[in-house]
Amino acid sequence: MKNVLVIGATGQIGSELTLELRKRYSGNIVAGYIPGAEPQGELLESGPSALVDITNDQQIAETVSKYNIDTIYNLAALLSAVAESKPQLAWKIGMGGLFNVLEVAREKNCAVFTPSSIGVFGNNTPKDKTPQDTIRNPRTMYGVTKVSGELLSDYYFIRFGVDTRSVRFPGLISYVTPPGGGTTDYAVDIYYEAVKGNKFVCPIAAGTFMDMMYMPDALHAAIQIMEADPTRLKHRNSFNIAAMSFDPEIIAGNIRKYIPDFKMEYDVDPLRQAIAESWPNSLDDTCAREEWDWEPHYTLDMMTQDMLAKLKARLNK
Ligand code: SER
Repeated sequence: MKNVLVIGATGQIGSELTLELRKRYSGNIVAGYIPGAEPQGELLESGPSALVDITNDQQIAETVSKYNIDTIYNLAALLSAVAESKPQLAWKIGMGGLFNVLEVAREKNCAVFTPSSIGVFGNNTPKDKTPQDTIRNPRTMYGVTKVSGELLSDYYFIRFGVDTRSVRFPGLISYVTPPGGGTTDYAVDIYYEAVKGNKFVCPIAAGTFMDMMYMPDALHAAIQIMEADPTRLKHRNSFNIAAMSFDPEIIAGNIRKYIPDFKMEYDVDPLRQAIAESWPNSLDDTCAREEWDWEPHYTLDMMTQDMLAKLKARLNK
């Protein structure tokens, strides 16, 4: 039995991860939310929820005690582009929030998963097949909080024995809860416009490659890393994981296989473009494969077929 608190349970990852954890584990899987983002529908009805603002350490501690929590999934964050418009808030949530989670975990003996990101890398990082252990010098607040979060999480493991683990997510693509304010969001928006029969105006330039992943693989990674045999882990915070790498032309071309008259034009957003150019083209995920048997399932073509089918049903197209 596992008792899990998901902080940020109604967000892009949390809304799906909470339901997946409830399918797999019989214990309390608590959906932690903030005011204005209350759980609805299946998420509300299938298990307990609690008001847990990550900047409020009391709320975290009380919920952990009440539900006898042993694992915390800390999914609260502002994504990369929106974090540039609110850097102080991004730090408060990303680092202040993580500190609160780690302190509660230290006192109450919880394992902690905090997603990291391709955003930890920067302009001086090797761009292709970026190694696991390499230069991490981001120039975005999102990246700064993710690198600092990796370091702080490893510190809590080494110094206090808190079981902290993490993966560096690439851009995540899903038909369920849309992301907000990320650099990789174009690869979600493009499917919505294609299914609606609209032309897509792409904010990222042709030729800009970034790593991406379909949400089922991301959920699998988040659960598998927390179940991994700790004696095999040489790394903890955080593992490169990869599934596919493409630029806007490649994903648009793949969509045209199924919607031949789909049209795309470019109106490049300088902020998102600069962030995208500072990130790797593709990651080397050998360490994750060797240390906990990571393996993605979905290719770009499999993802496109599933996204188009699911969105057609959702949007009644
Ligand atoms: N999807 C995130 C973003 O674009 C990257 O981890 O901000």
